[in-house]
Amino acid sequence: MTFEKMFEEGHIGTMKLENRIVCPPMVRNWASEEGLVTDRLINNYVAIAAGGVGMIIVEASYIHPIGKGFVNQLGIYDDKCIEGLKALAVAIHNHGVKAGVQIHHAGRQTIPEFCGGQPVAPSPKPCGIMKFLDPEYSPRELTTEEVGLMADCYAEAARRNKDAGFDFVEIHGAHGYLITQFLSPYTNERTDKYGGDFAGRMRFVLEIVEKIRAKVGPDYPVTIRLSGSEFMEGGIDIAYTRKIVQELDKAGIDAFHISGEIYESYPQGRMIPPMATPAAPLVELATAVKEVTSKPVITVSKIYRPGLVEDVLVKNQADFVAIGRSLLADPEWPKKVKEGRLGEINYCITCQGCIDLLFSQQDVRCTVNPWCGREEELEIKPVPTAKKVMVAGGGPAGMEAAWVAAQRGHQVTLYEKNHQLGGQMVLAAMPPTRDDINVFTRYQIRQLAKNGVSVITGKEVTPELVNEEKPDVIIIATGSCPTKPDIPGVDGTNVVDARDVLRGTVRCRSPIIVAGGGLVGCGVAEWLAQKGEKVKIVEMLENVAQDMGLNDMMMLLDRLSKLGVEIFTKKRITKIDLHGVTVEEEGKAEEIAGETVVLAMGARPDQELTEAVKGQVLELYTVGDSVEPRKSMDAIYEGAKAGCQV
Ligand SMILES: Cc1cc2nc3c(=O)[nH]c(=O)nc-3n(C[C@H](O)[C@H](O)[C@H](O)COP(=O)(O)O)c2cc1C
Ligand code: SF4
Repeated sequence: MTFEKMFEEGHIGTMKLENRIVCPPMVRNWASEEGLVTDRLINNYVAIAAGGVGMIIVEASYIHPIGKGFVNQLGIYDDKCIEGLKALAVAIHNHGVKAGVQIHHAGRQTIPEFCGGQPVAPSPKPCGIMKFLDPEYSPRELTTEEVGLMADCYAEAARRNKDAGFDFVEIHGAHGYLITQFLSPYTNERTDKYGGDFAGRMRFVLEIVEKIRAKVGPDYPVTIRLSGSEFMEGGIDIAYTRKIVQELDKAGIDAFHISGEIYESYPQGRMIPPMATPAAPLVELATAVKEVTSKPVITVSKIYRPGLVEDVLVKNQADFVAIGRSLLADPEWPKKVKEGRLGEINYCITCQGCIDLLFSQQDVRCTVNPWCGREEELEIKPVPTAKKVMVAGGGPAGMEAAWVAAQRGHQVTLYEKNHQLGGQMVLAAMPPTRDDINVFTRYQIRQLAKNGVSVITGKEVTPELVNEEKPDVIIIATGSCPTKPDIPGVDGTNVVDARDVLRGTVRCRSPIIVAGGGLVGCGVAEWLAQKGEKVKIVEMLENVAQDMGLNDMMMLLDRLSKLGVEIFTKKRITKIDLHGVTVEEEGKAEEIAGETVVLAMGARPDQELTEAVKGQVLELYTVGDSVEPRKSMDAIYEGAKAGCQV
């Protein structure tokens, strides 16, 4: 397949773009507390600019402190922000890429902890998701005068963006933030001139556009991001969006960037789609917008394979395609496509690691790309003298360590005791919808080959082997072992481990009780239920799947319910026998009937080798689950770090 359309020149207003690939705005949560640009931000944007994208929309930046939605969000609310933004613009421009900031106000979709005061909104209707985070939170209705002043803040932010040297500005009118709240009959219950009917609800955004134009001039490109549909009853749908677009087109907007959903509909999985959402869930909204405007339309959301991007463009479903997380996972995605190096792309696996971190107010990182946000820390420096490096364990941490060390010039051999590489990732990919995890495992295997790592499968590293091989360095990535709880009956013939079930080395008989309702337990339950088994999950906590992100969790619960999986929560298993389990809740005992009991109650680090070879090799690193079982994101990072340190 050729990718001619993707690399065709494009235009937005007066701005010429090298190609049709857009980096959409993505809050990293890496700014200073005051919202100023940091080196960490610059380094990541530079990596993306150098990777060949046509245009970068810098992450949502708050125009007023009360509209701040994330603790370390980038700001554009004061002239003191300009200096850092200037440095960012210069750094991106050094790679010949056009850039502009997305100007943002969270409205009701923030809480006092993030914005430092009582959030403001068109109407005092709280957002359900925010209420869950802070039950005390309640947004305040802006006065008519304040609404006008807020429009001035957007205009001032646009002016700062231009003063900083950016090429265009994007207004954040999507995802249920302040502008969407004014546009939507679902959130705008005002009776003054900013509400009441379509014209009233449009007034705020039209004033913003007019005030921005007055500041930036007639030729400066101004784009807007809209949620083509809020996917909420009583909210904005695509027919309504088409009306909005027609008005904004007349008001002088230069391009429409069509996303979807708001916080309350985010669990439906289209705004930032998880693995369970099919590819390109929002393209048709962009196409529907294209029908009512002659201005360029940008589409987005899980359009992560080059063939799909090209297809959308060739079919004229949109004029530009934004690939967000694909660029966190591999900033060189565009360059690799252009040069025909498709096999070298490290694809985003839509695991939601990045966004789950953001929504828990942590700094964004990427599971499959530990360099994202750590460009400086994890510099791959060539080594003056090659060392003999032995890596024990071919899971994600071991493979990452091995190829990185080899790329630096070391002589690396990786040993895996099983006949297959991938470790826990292979099992994690088995439940329904999780297949994309294999994409990363295959990438790592290609990286091993590309960098000349010798791979020996079916061989376990032992102290004897270490003695024989005499490596200069050993990196231990032997992973974890399942935890066996201290429950009477746990050694019974009907008790099996979740990993063995997925490996197919044990048989289960219905009804099956899965003990433990975390990611692993729910995954194995779904996998079994899909095969027609009758499954029950027993969990001690209040809810199952608490170690998953919001939309992954909601979609999984929906699938489990459709498959008829019974879920028992707040129940502690006190006994297992051949008839099932005895559970206890608030001192009351109860029997749950089952034939097989599948244990999914956590894991402990496998530290046997570390203990055995301590002192035998001068340079020893233990990485990943063999330190402590955690998410694959941590394991992969530790692997990369060890590879850089050796
Ligand atoms: C970590 C993260 C931060 C995001 N921040 C923003 C943002 O600042 N503004 C915005 O409009 N969308 C934001 N989004 C949504 C993305 O721009 C994009 O629409 C979404 O990730 C779907 O595209 P993708 O599947 O190509 O990643 C964010 C998404 C992620 C993953
Ligand atoms: S963390 Fe996961 S979803 Fe986010 S960019 Fe990386 S691979 Fe994609």
